[in-house]
Amino acid sequence: SQRLVVAVDGPSGSGKSSVSRAIARRLGAAYLDTGAMYRAVAWHCRHQGVLDDPDAVVAAVQDMDLVLSVDPDHERVVVGTDDITEAIREPGISAVVSVVATNRAVRELLVARQRAEIDAHRKIVAEGRDITTVVAPDADARILLTASAEARTARRAAQLGGAVEAKDLAEQVSGRDAKDSTVVDFMTPSDGVGLVDSTELDVEATIEAMLAEITRQQ
Ligand code: C5P
Repeated sequence: SQRLVVAVDGPSGSGKSSVSRAIARRLGAAYLDTGAMYRAVAWHCRHQGVLDDPDAVVAAVQDMDLVLSVDPDHERVVVGTDDITEAIREPGISAVVSVVATNRAVRELLVARQRAEIDAHRKIVAEGRDITTVVAPDADARILLTASAEARTARRAAQLGGAVEAKDLAEQVSGRDAKDSTVVDFMTPSDGVGLVDSTELDVEATIEAMLAEITRQQ
């Protein structure tokens, strides 16, 4: 059947990852979590102790042996011999990921790798902050998934199961958005990008709205 590239961007807590993964399953497509790549780079640079040296960060990324599964039913992130699938989700990584994400040379390396990954699959859902605008502006369907700051903070709280104070949580969500938005604008849809607002939608309704938008754009 036909080739299909779906690009999804959005802020943290928009439900982007779980919804994109579910859509990939339903479409029989591969799933590329580009946030996991930035997280893996952050983990690797911290592990190498080079986070505070931009040139060493770039060198570490060039040497990095990163294996990322694109099977939506099997999330795996491996660097060298270390399986870091769980480690990259830790708050300590979320706190430092913007150090590598704001490094232009790192972004160029990762964008090139993401484009190659997209080209290598007949059907793929790719998700992140700059997929609709930079990585795959010619995708068959492009969607910006948003939600109000309140909804995103509440979802993050539910994910973490009450382990974090409300004010720390709001700071984690809006603080990371603020850092991220210095690199790419993922809050306003660029020309031709469909907007799906999940503030009032549960996961299933969000998936339905996204699938309808994908059909509409094709
Ligand atoms: O999506 P997730 O929250 O896992 O992304 C982690 C971080 O990776 C983001 O906060 C952002 O700094 C960075 N990122 C990015 N560009 C992307 C995807 C993620 O800069 N396409």
